[in-house]
Parts: sequence; C-alpha cells; structure tokens
Amino acid sequence: MHRLHPDRPSIAVELTQPGGPSTHFAIAADHPTLLGALLAAGADLPSSCRNGSCRACLSQVQSGQISHVIDWPSLSAQERSDGYCLPCVARATSPRLVLRTGCLFES
Ligand code: FES
Repeated sequence: MHRLHPDRPSIAVELTQPGGPSTHFAIAADHPTLLGALLAAGADLPSSCRNGSCRACLSQVQSGQISHVIDWPSLSAQERSDGYCLPCVARATSPRLVLRTGCLFES
C-alpha cells in the first residue's frame, strides 16, 4: 500500500478488476480528484480526457461514497443509480472506498 505522511488525513482505497487481484492505496483526504490521487499513488487506471466526457475511467463503487466535482459527468441516471462513477471528476467522501475499475472495457 502506498503510504502518505502519517499526520495527513487519508482515505483507504481498494481497486478491484475483473479477473485480477485487488490493489490497495492510501490517498490524501483532500485530493482534487480520485483519478489524479490514485495515479499519483501508483495505480494503473485507464483514462483519457480527464474531464468526465470520454468514460475511459468508468468505475463502479462497491462500498464507500464518492461525489462528482462537475454537475453533469458522462453518466446516465441509471448508471449513477447503479453506483458507476468517473474517477477523473470525482472525489472519495468516505474514509474507505472500494472501486471496481475498467468497467468500460468489460464485455
Ligand atoms: S478519463 Fe475521460 S471520463 Fe474519465
């Protein structure tokens, strides 16, 4: 697990991928975006536009909470209801988060 300064509040993030192992990261609680924080922590996540439009980073919240930092990320109401998010324009808002990543590329 990536380590932050012990005095800095952090969020524990577990990333799961279909057919792959889970990976664990600690990101700063005051991160600007989930994608940026996870990439800085060493995660390998798909991304492209980083503005919430291309959906390359599409992920699904398995547990924990996020909020999007823009009003209209490229998600349908049903996808939002099903827990999908775009980490490039989202922040984690709970102390622990489990995200299923690579959802755009699932068959
Ligand atoms: S990288 Fe394009 S929507 Fe997240």
